[in-house]
Amino acid sequence: MEEVSGQGRANKEKSARSAQIVNLSDIDQSQFKRVPIGMSEVDRVLGGGVVIGSIILVSGDPGIGKSTLLTQVAINIVKTLYIAGEESAQQIKIRAERINPKANIPILQETDVDVILAVIEQVKPPLVIIDSIQTIKTDDLNSTPGSVGQVRECAYRLQQLAKRTHVPIILVGHVTKDGSIAGPKTLEHLVDVILSLEGDSSTNFRILRGNKNRFGTTDEVGIFEMEETGMVEVSNPSKLFLETRQNAPGSTVVPIITGLRPILVEIQALVTKTNLPIPRRTGSGIDNNRLQLLVAVLQKRLGLHLFDQDIFVNVTGGLKVYEPAADLAICMAIISSFKDAVIPAKTVFIGEVGLLGELRSVRNLDRRVNEATKLGFTNVISSDKAKSLSEVARLTIPKPA
Ligand code: TYD
Ligand code: MG
Repeated sequence: MEEVSGQGRANKEKSARSAQIVNLSDIDQSQFKRVPIGMSEVDRVLGGGVVIGSIILVSGDPGIGKSTLLTQVAINIVKTLYIAGEESAQQIKIRAERINPKANIPILQETDVDVILAVIEQVKPPLVIIDSIQTIKTDDLNSTPGSVGQVRECAYRLQQLAKRTHVPIILVGHVTKDGSIAGPKTLEHLVDVILSLEGDSSTNFRILRGNKNRFGTTDEVGIFEMEETGMVEVSNPSKLFLETRQNAPGSTVVPIITGLRPILVEIQALVTKTNLPIPRRTGSGIDNNRLQLLVAVLQKRLGLHLFDQDIFVNVTGGLKVYEPAADLAICMAIISSFKDAVIPAKTVFIGEVGLLGELRSVRNLDRRVNEATKLGFTNVISSDKAKSLSEVARLTIPKPA
């Protein structure tokens, strides 16, 4: 372990002397208020805005759109200080002008955390964005920027400053595949909120997800489309996710709940004869273990011969669906592809599937049904309508003539 040079012991004595105990009743609540960003999809994930004095980590693959999103945040909160460690002020200007030709953001090109601390202390901006934490360093350590020691120490100093001055700070953190550069994992316990920006390169959808939030839920997701002029918030994701859907074999629809919001998503399955000794079961956007389990139920309870079939299941739009409520839709997508039979139009499936093939009720059924009805799905199949998976299969998949 690397040691911060010099003052270790002196600091300890000082903190012991200056330590003080506070009573809850003496704490000024107003210090913990939130500043709304003014972008509803971002505020949704944050739980209403940035909490004063908090540290937020925004992580994601390079090129996914972190700087774009945060430039938009900086434009929205006037006088946000944008600290550029990665790009030149010119590059940021080009990006900002794409988003809004009139954009004006104060930018500090600096990588020395101690200089950054001094500037924040002096200017007291309403919000600080550091792009990225991997480029920031302190001369007190000998290691290179981006190393675990540097990232942790810099983030720690920024966290202390945020607490003391009540200036909220957003850190950008790259996710790296090999983990050689200290990524978001290093910072997990240091920050108050971790948001990840996700999406696959084949679509323009970007999903902002809460992975940790000391001040709210982590169930909510914010949904954007990456366009020429930045991230555009998607206010009706159900409509957008189903826009290109065709009612073909292997396609089903399920209303999932993210945080408070119901969203209709399409589940696609492809079942084809395997040429491997052990057939593949590959889920993207769903839990692979859950997929294995559901396939086992389909084999045992419905007698489907899936042992020589590869099975791929995908959630379109890049959302992750970890709710058991999607079980039935996943099973029906698999059956539909296997039997090459189309599910009747305007049908949604809602239900958890048990090991016995029984259907179980799910939370928030009403909200899911409402969302489905709103989008014209009139045939809702849930545990209210059928008791078992085999009953649903009989109801919806026509017997071949
Ligand atoms: P960027 O925000 O730089 O990604 P990150 O900071 O996560 O590395 O965005 C990268 C991509 O986004 C880049 O290929 C260009 C594209 N982009 C748009 O499509 N629209 C825009 O308005 C902007 C600014 C960028
Ligand atoms: Mg960037």
